[in-house]
Parts: sequence; C-alpha cells; structure tokens
Amino acid sequence: MSTNVKKNERVEEVFDLFLKHMKAFLKEANLNHEEYTNFVNWADRLGRAGELPLYADVFLETHVLQAMYTNMPGTQPSLLGPFFIEGSPRLEHTPGQPVVNTMRPDEPGETLHFSGRVQDLQGKPLANTKVEIWHNDNSRKYSSFDSEAPPYNLRGHFYTDENGAFDVKTIVPIPYSIPDEGPTGEFLEYLDQHPMRPAHLHLMFEAPGYETLITQVFFEGDPWLDNDVAEGVREELITTLHDKGGHKEAALTFEMRPA
Ligand code: BEZ
Ligand code: FE
Repeated sequence: MSTNVKKNERVEEVFDLFLKHMKAFLKEANLNHEEYTNFVNWADRLGRAGELPLYADVFLETHVLQAMYTNMPGTQPSLLGPFFIEGSPRLEHTPGQPVVNTMRPDEPGETLHFSGRVQDLQGKPLANTKVEIWHNDNSRKYSSFDSEAPPYNLRGHFYTDENGAFDVKTIVPIPYSIPDEGPTGEFLEYLDQHPMRPAHLHLMFEAPGYETLITQVFFEGDPWLDNDVAEGVREELITTLHDKGGHKEAALTFEMRPA
C-alpha cells in the first residue's frame, strides 16, 4: 500500500456486521442489478454535489442518536445537523440583562428571550457551562450557508451563571425547508416526502467532567412537530412560547450526563 494507514479493528468489526445485515436486507428487498446501478449513480451525484453530510443528517443522524440515548437519563440529544460552524463570537454579559445573540441592528423577526437552567442528573446546577447557540433567520437561512446575513449572524456562545442559569435574547426561529434542489431533494421526491423542519434553536453545552450535550429546542403548536423531515423532535425538547407583548419568552431545563 502506498499510504501509511494501519489496520483498524473497529472498522473491520463494524464492516463485518454491516455486511451480515446487508445480506439479509438484500434478500428481503430483492434488489436487482439495475437498482444497484441506479443507487450508485445517485450516490455519486450526492457526493459530487457536496450533499453527503446533508443526506446523512436528514436520514441517519437521528437513528444514531436514538440507538445511543433512548431511555438514558438526562436531556435527549438532537441533531447537530450540517449548519454548525466553529468559532462563534463570545456574547458579553451585563448583570441583570440577557446576553444578546449576534444580530444585525434591524434583524427581521420577533424578539425571543430564551432562558435555561443547566444541571447534572441529580439536579445540581452546573455553573460556568459553555452554551453555544445557533439558528436560522427570517429568510429561513443559516448565516455562512447561502444567506445574505453577515458571517456568524445568530450564532454565539456564553457561560451559565453561578446557578447554572442563562438568559439569551435572540429572534424566534421559523420552520424551514432543508435544501431540496439537489440529490437529497430528488430522494425526498422518490418518497413523496416534504422537506420541512419545525422551528428550532440549536444548543450545545460543554462542562468539564460532563458529556457534551448537543440538542435542539422546539416550540409547542409548530405545524411540523409531528412530521419533521429529519425526525429530530423529542417530546421533552418542546417548550412553550409565551407572548409578553412586544416579545416572546420561552424556557427549558437541561440535564447533562457525567462523561
Ligand atoms: C438542522 O437541524 O438544521 C438540520 C438537521 C438535519 C438536516 C438538515 C438540517
Ligand atoms: Fe437547524
């Protein structure tokens, strides 16, 4: 071999299992050679369009998470998705005020004050936990992906206070369609499946000694909660938007698992 790659026993173990189940699947699906060729051609288009991460996050990520976390104590994780980027700005904190997410002076949308508490499985508050937030804007897009917003718009990070609490001012996210003009959209059409996701905030929590929690927050009454294309909704991640005359408020408690 020309590369220096060494044998990886885990890859071998997982691939052997994959083949074992694949053989049973092929027998049951009765796949023919033309269907195999069609699949390879479609997968080639998917890769060339740069949509492999999108396809995997829509159709596979939720199953990986459910296999790992269903019935586990602590807050259920949800999809990281393809729209996270590293390096978000730190949001500064003025005592008694919510931190303010990165946004334009005239950011379109309804103001949201989202507050949370971060605790361990016994309810002990986790002070100084890093909280990363990102979500879409009122054009339904994520900054840095096909959006007119400046880089890092509606993306930021901050830390919980001594009570494990936080309060962030941002805008209410809205439901959106995953990109559906390429091979992922073609696949959705084969299934006669719409491309919509319910409105959600993305959150990531990091605290020393705890497993990093990557999750999402959804809102009661959203028309897409029961048929999210990416199946990322979990009952305990749904909160209520309260109308405060001029802005909305919502809250949720998050429980982190020990590392
Ligand atoms: C998202 O949460 O933004 C997302 C997840 C999976 C696929 C596409 C988008
Ligand atoms: Fe998202």
